[in-house]
Amino acid sequence: MGNRVEGKVAVVTGAGSVGSGIGNGKAAALVYAREGARVMLVDYNLEAAHETRALIEQEGGESFAFQADVSQSGACQRMIEECIRTYGRIDILHNNVGIELAGGLDTTTEEAWDRTMAVNLKSMFLTCKYAAPYMERQEDGSIINISSINAIRTLPALSLPYAASKAAIIAMTREIAVEYAAKGIRANAILPGMMSTPFVVMSLTEAYGGDIEEMMSKRDALCPTGKQGESWDVAYLALFLASDESKYITGQAIVVDGAQTCRI
Ligand SMILES: NC(=O)c1ccc[n+]([C@@H]2O[C@H](COP(=O)([O-])OP(=O)(O)OC[C@H]3O[C@@H](n4cnc5c(N)ncnc54)[C@H](O)[C@@H]3O)[C@@H](O)[C@H]2O)c1
Repeated sequence: MGNRVEGKVAVVTGAGSVGSGIGNGKAAALVYAREGARVMLVDYNLEAAHETRALIEQEGGESFAFQADVSQSGACQRMIEECIRTYGRIDILHNNVGIELAGGLDTTTEEAWDRTMAVNLKSMFLTCKYAAPYMERQEDGSIINISSINAIRTLPALSLPYAASKAAIIAMTREIAVEYAAKGIRANAILPGMMSTPFVVMSLTEAYGGDIEEMMSKRDALCPTGKQGESWDVAYLALFLASDESKYITGQAIVVDGAQTCRI
């Protein structure tokens, strides 16, 4: 256990994992707890959040699970209020929830577009909106929004609404950063590249023809390192951005991709 975010309170959305393994949200929650933060684990699948809570408990950390669908305004408001009621403050807002519905312009339905925007983008707008007044009162807060390299590059499996939502997250994060810079609140976006996570297995296998092993080796081959990244790679950047070590870094969109975007 370390102390890089000792005394801070973190809210992580999508803190469980779809399927077994460690996804990005779960890894971030574990890393915050290991470094001294008390962590609110938000997920619409309460069981998944409890799995993360159990791991944190085993390691001697402190957290609690909370059920919320972050695409819903009322749920986002209740989530922030519950954090304040339980821990009295909110220092780190880690917006991890994101879905990917594969498809280009011809195959993407209006429903898929609306759902992606609601889950990936509007959710972050809402959680930031409800958390900002508390952070402003504390004159301290770090918002971390999970985007994707798909915001800045087109990847082999087309995901039009996903890419558009992830690009909008960068713009929104930048606007929030400037608006709140003098009030002690920082906002940064992380752009993960190809990560080997349960999310990928669930959302992309079909787009790659249904064979998980083949999809994973194709994704590995697209990475200059020869290997996809891990959730921990995203989590350790988030930890830096959440800690006071990064106090002069705000409004940035930071890529974690083993140089993949350098090659595309
Ligand atoms: N894995 C990659 O290669 C990659 C690359 C770039 C970006 N990302 C981003 O990482 C994030 C996904 O990370 P993960 O591995 O933790 O994903 P995940 O799919 O494992 O999801 C984590 C949790 O989010 C929950 N969730 C989904 N929708 C929700 C909602 N509306 N409200 C509340 N909870 C909800 C799920 O129940 C799940 O437990 C996404 O934002 C994704 O776009 C992933």
